[in-house]
Amino acid sequence: MSGLPPNRESFGSKFGIVAATAGSAVGLGNIWRYPYVVGENGGAAFIMIYLAIVIAIGIPVMLSELSIGRRAQQNVYGSFRTLAPNRPWYLIGLMGVVAAFMILAFYTVVAGWTLEYLYQSFIGGFHEKSAEELGSMFNSFIGSSSRPLIWFFVFMGLTAFIVVAGVKNGIEKSTKILMPLLFVLLLILIVRSVTLPGAAKGLSFIFKPDFSKITAETFLMALGQAFFSLSIGMGTLITYGSYIQKRDNLATTSLSVVATDTMVAILAGVAIFPAVFAFGIPTGAGPGLAFITLPNIFEQMPGGTVFSVMFFLLLGVAALTSTISVLEVIVAFFVEELKMKRGAATWLATFSVSILGVLCVLSTSELADFKILGKTVFELMEYTTANVLLPLGGFFIVIFVAWFFGRDKAKDELSNNGTLKAHYIPVFLFVIKFIAPLAIAFVFLQGIGLIDLK
Ligand code: PHE
Repeated sequence: MSGLPPNRESFGSKFGIVAATAGSAVGLGNIWRYPYVVGENGGAAFIMIYLAIVIAIGIPVMLSELSIGRRAQQNVYGSFRTLAPNRPWYLIGLMGVVAAFMILAFYTVVAGWTLEYLYQSFIGGFHEKSAEELGSMFNSFIGSSSRPLIWFFVFMGLTAFIVVAGVKNGIEKSTKILMPLLFVLLLILIVRSVTLPGAAKGLSFIFKPDFSKITAETFLMALGQAFFSLSIGMGTLITYGSYIQKRDNLATTSLSVVATDTMVAILAGVAIFPAVFAFGIPTGAGPGLAFITLPNIFEQMPGGTVFSVMFFLLLGVAALTSTISVLEVIVAFFVEELKMKRGAATWLATFSVSILGVLCVLSTSELADFKILGKTVFELMEYTTANVLLPLGGFFIVIFVAWFFGRDKAKDELSNNGTLKAHYIPVFLFVIKFIAPLAIAFVFLQGIGLIDLK
């Protein structure tokens, strides 16, 4: 393939690239995390800020990451090493690898919850349960340790299994078919949710902004959610970018991925909030929100069992296409930097992530009272990755492309060496030079309380 070093894998087709990248982006971040963060941060006003951040910061960071990866043809650490030899930029790469460990540890816990809920759907575990009973069902499940632990290991194993198989066979094939199906299922859920009695309040919660609830922290939560949901700021897309061929179009890839990811999140919100109000579930229910609300919806649907089996299966798959992208960051690093074989690298990564992962699993049971900075291990991993490491990574990534990578290389990557007309490039360069880094810095410093410019 043109310009690719031999022996390095790449994605096979255009649709495959979008599917794998969208597969990374779309996952629990959209269907589990987005609704609960929206619920905790006041609804519609948060969503508007979120959308603005996705457009003004998300797209530029994504394009920057893909450009770095495709240019360097390396893992996240190696990419910075190659493009900026003898400069400390590789530290950003290392930070990405560390973030990958932390994300995978807590994310796989929630992915494990989807397997329990798939199982419960099968055995009719939600039958004739009230909203309250479904709430306590969730709490007693996460409050026990053995089942969440088992599901965690099952999910880690599945992830490792696919990553061992490699980019084209494992990652690309599995995402192509199942993603579109999840979309359809969400639409069906929406129809049921918005026709429930009392649904209107939920719709106004997500469509009628109430700006009085907005604080500096709201902006930081929106920024963190955007980075998390788009899989940006830690080199997942540098790694995936390195598998994209020179003839493919990075801009259209980014736009399709951002559009898909945002659409799925919005749809998940429209599916969940009408039901939240209809069943009297508190909007600030936290990480259990989707797991408590969805079974309620299924219980109110003809054929609910079938839909619920399908839904949790697809949610599990969506989570899997995200976990493989995170594990791939670590594995590519081990393979290329530590010269390990792919199999050994995968199992070493899986084993070490699992140690941290077990602490995350136990954060809702045995270790519920073990807190660092007032947070359980699970909460600490979730908060520091989404709201600190990813924005920090994103900040340095755009700065790198704008000020160090050089205008010409950026142009080459975005226009495929001049063969594509990419009229947006001057705008893009302006945004990554000034707007995106300033906005990230401002939201970040204000959000953690270091500056106060109200
Ligand atoms: N974007 C994924 C999701 O929304 C999670 C993820 C974060 C994946 C960071 C890769 C890197 O579910």
